[in-house]
Amino acid sequence: MKYTITTIATAAAVAATVVFSGVTPAASAGNNAFVVTNPTTKEECSACHMAYPPGFLPKRSWQAIMSDLSNHFGEDASLDDAATREITNYLVSMAPAEIRGLNSSYTIIRISQMPWFTREHGARRVAYAKSRADIGSISNCTACHRGAERGYFDDD
Ligand code: HEC
Ligand code: HEC
Repeated sequence: MKYTITTIATAAAVAATVVFSGVTPAASAGNNAFVVTNPTTKEECSACHMAYPPGFLPKRSWQAIMSDLSNHFGEDASLDDAATREITNYLVSMAPAEIRGLNSSYTIIRISQMPWFTREHGARRVAYAKSRADIGSISNCTACHRGAERGYFDDD
């Protein structure tokens, strides 16, 4: 099955002025972990969705995702060894060891299931994203956050 996430430039129905309040991990990032700066990652990890920036998940999560790419959310996203190694090194080195609010014995593999994320977006917005054919899923960040690929999530 071919999986396509439609990226739309605007999601007019979703309008909000958002200011980082400190509950999200991005608030404490004093670096560029919220913009993907590695060209291989940018290229290979944006074929089906935006290339998610490393700062949203702890190191162990990226490790888990990258070691199981052939079984990636129902897709085969596997890459050759060199690319896999480069992307793994980049994501793991940029990611935080721990993210506040997350049980350190649990390896989460979805940003969209992080406690801050579900708090911030709410069940209704998740359902709304799914119901809109032009959004498809709450994982389609760029549908609502037009600046997501530049690290901006507060300009909707
Ligand atoms: C062949 C298509 C494809 C490629 C290539 C791909 N992914 Fe995915 N990815 C998916 C699908 C499908 C989902 C689930 C999306 C959904 O639930 O709407 C997903 C979800 C994710 C999620 C969780 C998103 C969330 O809900 O928080 C992460 C993290 C992720 N991918 C990382 C990566 C990384 C890192 C790469 C590059 C090594 C990559 N993906 C390449 C198809 C792909
Ligand atoms: C259906 C639209 C939609 C999608 C899809 C979506 N978001 Fe959001 N997001 C919002 C809205 C609206 C808010 C503001 C929530 C509020 O304050 O009520 C928000 C808030 C945020 C915030 C907090 C911003 C701040 O300034 O406090 C972050 C970070 C964020 N989203 C990241 C993401 C990421 C990462 C993804 C994809 C994995 C994503 N969002 C997907 C609509 C969306």
